[in-house]
Amino acid sequence: MADEEYVVWSKSYETGIPLIDNQHKKLVALTNQLYDACLAGRDTATEFFLRAVHEFVDYAKEHFSAEEELMKQSAYSHLAEHKAKHDEFVKKLLNETQEMKAGNPMVPLIFLHYLRSWILSHIAIDDMDFVYHSKALKKEVGILFRKFAN
Ligand SMILES: [Fe+2]
Repeated sequence: MADEEYVVWSKSYETGIPLIDNQHKKLVALTNQLYDACLAGRDTATEFFLRAVHEFVDYAKEHFSAEEELMKQSAYSHLAEHKAKHDEFVKKLLNETQEMKAGNPMVPLIFLHYLRSWILSHIAIDDMDFVYHSKALKKEVGILFRKFAN
């Protein structure tokens, strides 16, 4: 375990949706696990790293499906664009895995940098857009409910 975590979770990343927040925290933990694997040494790094990358990709897919389902249920108007971003990210991860298998020792560090910036900006911008949408929807439903209840 590294002395300092590569990605430090902050309250500002919280969406307020427990399922999503827990999954985001797990993605951050897996990214830190990848960083630790990267520090484990040149000979073993690739094997550890590839295993950790596969674990990350599997979990990311699971998380994206859950998030997309939630967006579908909330009739989120940017679902198609959001899903395209998820799909592109997964595709990039799988391509990078192939690069790593080719044995370029610099790739894991570049990959980690990409991973960290993608996750943090995706949570802060794209996922938060959905959060604003669902909060606004809840408010509208509340107003309609009160209107028809009276
Ligand atoms: Fe997302």
